[in-house]
Amino acid sequence: MSNGLLKGKKGIIFGALNNQSIAWKVAERAHEEGAQIVLSNAPIAMRMGEINELGSKINAPIIPADATSVEDLDNLVKKSMEHFGGKIDFILHSIGMSMNVRKGKHYTDQNYDFTMKGLDVSAISFHKVLQTAMKNDAVNDWGSILALTYIAAQRVFPDYNDMADNKSYLESVARSFGYHYGIAKKVRVNTISQSPTMTTAGSGVKGFNEFINFSEKMSPLGNASALDCANYCIVMFSDLTKYVTMQNLFHDGGFSNTGVTQEVIEKFGQ
Ligand SMILES: NC(=O)c1ccc[n+]([C@@H]2O[C@H](COP(=O)([O-])OP(=O)(O)OC[C@H]3O[C@@H](n4cnc5c(N)ncnc54)[C@H](O)[C@@H]3O)[C@@H](O)[C@H]2O)c1
Repeated sequence: MSNGLLKGKKGIIFGALNNQSIAWKVAERAHEEGAQIVLSNAPIAMRMGEINELGSKINAPIIPADATSVEDLDNLVKKSMEHFGGKIDFILHSIGMSMNVRKGKHYTDQNYDFTMKGLDVSAISFHKVLQTAMKNDAVNDWGSILALTYIAAQRVFPDYNDMADNKSYLESVARSFGYHYGIAKKVRVNTISQSPTMTTAGSGVKGFNEFINFSEKMSPLGNASALDCANYCIVMFSDLTKYVTMQNLFHDGGFSNTGVTQEVIEKFGQ
């Protein structure tokens, strides 16, 4: 399916680890819609090699960058502009990691070195991406920059641990930087708050299978898939959403506005 929504546009996509990654689907859909892509991921993720398969499939160069390193990001942005022969139109930040979650540390017993690392990777990195793009004047007017988030930024989901705090920070960066980038260059900055999705990052959360089932039953439309999330990203990168900025956009089948569903109530019947 292609509507040519991104015809002639150029973008950087962070975070495609394997074919379950949301970023992987976004890259495939963006290519189908006519965009040229540069793929990036942490050097360590490159070693797994799967991203090369995606790169050849969509004819995209892969430029490694640790998203916590301003030096790496500066190199990525400069090399991408060289590759495209000019500025870019969109960026996807699809990056998340909590060391406390990985190491099984409870929210009330955090290792603060882990906390700082997770915050840097998952949230401050978005500021670094935006600042590096702005300093290099890398994005065309009316360009669109997205990061992916989760509703634990607003409501408690106990096992989401310190990722909840990271996502709150991430969403705040989208608002604050969105203001400045809008004034300076008419560049849009938004976050998409996605349903739980079975990916490497997602399945790291304790009890994720049960949680995905609960969320499915609490969403009038059911959980949104990674492919549907990709489709939403495409619309946000397109010129059809030029005045949407500084928003946290729920892509969750209605979960965020649902108090309870009949199906869930019935589970508590006698
Ligand atoms: N899966 C879900 O349930 C879900 C729900 C809502 C939001 N999200 C968000 O979507 C985004 C993508 O996650 P996903 O579910 O596709 O999982 P994923 O594991 O496929 O993607 C996470 C990516 O982050 C990359 N990464 C980690 N550290 C990095 C670093 N230092 N520099 C650069 N890249 C780094 C990983 O290599 C990986 O590609 C994340 O922000 C995640 O929090 C996921």
